Amino acid sequence: MTLTFATQTDAAIPLYLIEKDAGDALSALPKPAQTWASANGFDGGLGQCLVVPSASGEVEMALVGLGTAKARNRKRFGAVAARGKLPEGVYQLASSHSDQITQEFALGWLLEGYRFDRYATQSAPKAQLVAPAGVDATRLETIAGGEVATRDLINTPAEDMGPDELELAVRKLAEAHGATISTIMGKALLDQNFPMVHAVGRAATRAPRLIDMRWGDEGPTLTLVGKGVCFDTGGLNLKPGASMGLMKKDMGGAATVLGLAQMIMALGLKLRLRVLIPAVENAVAGNAFRPGDILTSRKGLTVEINNTDAEGRLVLADALALADEETPDLIVSMATLTGAARVAVGPDLSPFYATETTDADALRNGAQSSADPVWELPFWDPYEAMIEPGIADLDNAPKGGFAGSITAALFLRRFVTDTPRYVHFDIYGWNPTAAPGRPKGGVGMGARALLDALPDLLEL
Ligand code: BES
Ligand code: ZN
Ligand code: ZN
Repeated sequence: MTLTFATQTDAAIPLYLIEKDAGDALSALPKPAQTWASANGFDGGLGQCLVVPSASGEVEMALVGLGTAKARNRKRFGAVAARGKLPEGVYQLASSHSDQITQEFALGWLLEGYRFDRYATQSAPKAQLVAPAGVDATRLETIAGGEVATRDLINTPAEDMGPDELELAVRKLAEAHGATISTIMGKALLDQNFPMVHAVGRAATRAPRLIDMRWGDEGPTLTLVGKGVCFDTGGLNLKPGASMGLMKKDMGGAATVLGLAQMIMALGLKLRLRVLIPAVENAVAGNAFRPGDILTSRKGLTVEINNTDAEGRLVLADALALADEETPDLIVSMATLTGAARVAVGPDLSPFYATETTDADALRNGAQSSADPVWELPFWDPYEAMIEPGIADLDNAPKGGFAGSITAALFLRRFVTDTPRYVHFDIYGWNPTAAPGRPKGGVGMGARALLDALPDLLEL
């Protein structure tokens, strides 16, 4: 589906956003509208929606509550909850606000229109919005397009989104933007030294692979690496049913970097982009890798498998080693890597790790402007000892699980030794409860923050 703004029309219905803390916000409205608003208890509360009729009973204008600054901070995109309550029609913003407020409303409006309708028709909101003056409509539509791609990829069940289908999605994306793509698959992973991608994926009937996409020929170099575990049973250390239920989303890192790549390419940013996706299914079969096995990685580091459910860091490690070999200006990995990250920060916040504090600062700023919250966690050196098991270089699942997201991040950092700037996101990729602009289901996390931070990160 595409999320777009309506084309300008003379018949557009004026839509007034009302800031609850901006003095008597209603006083700018014509007197009858003020009377109607107070008669209906409309006071500009966040997400409130009121249609004001004309004397002849037509929709004359619409009022939407922006709430107070505090309420807006508590619920980003909160105002767009009104979109689904408005009658069918084309609306046009008639009030003026800060750039941040206008842009957030416009982007949230688009994102609120998302439905996953591949398997059943869904009713979508009928109200349309003309792009507000001053916003970069193309940019917002492009961001929404990337987010749609991410959500669709995550929401599609594993049966229809295996390594093959994920590769096909990358191929289509590459084709649409003139990017090149190559894939190393099955046994070839061993010949070309991606032993851990192979080990994790070898028990599945759908062959594991490493997908490599490149785009752009000028500017700084950025490599995105996304965890593409199309389904995570946990392998032989099988997940309990309740934990396995959602594991179609274990390619959420891949889906998010692909959505971001789509935004970067569609916007024509002046950079050289590489996207690496190890795409596998962590399955159970007689040839599955086992607890206690010791794998030798692409980088040469040996890894003792203490839990086959800590598979994401294994496939990412080989992909990161490859990324590191050409020392790009920045490497970013995104992965639904640990349950520990969810325990720490919940489902909405994207924890990230950065080797450079200036990169962390840029990401914080990007998160604020794009309503895509992130929080820095530390690459805490003293915990390095926890990932050193003794009989191999590394342990994929330290006992006890203390600081599980941090130890996973430290594990990944061992494979990025020559590239000074490395950022890693441990995301959830899933929205458990519907919220404005974010329906329940697959959701991109960290991509908009990164996109907004890119000019800073890469001096674009
Ligand atoms: N895909 C999971 C992590 C996950 C679980 C993300 C639930 C989001 C929600 C990952 O492969 C995994 O199972 N990690 C283990 C690691 C542990 C065995 C060291 C975890 O977090 O329990
Ligand atoms: Zn797992
Ligand atoms: Zn996993």
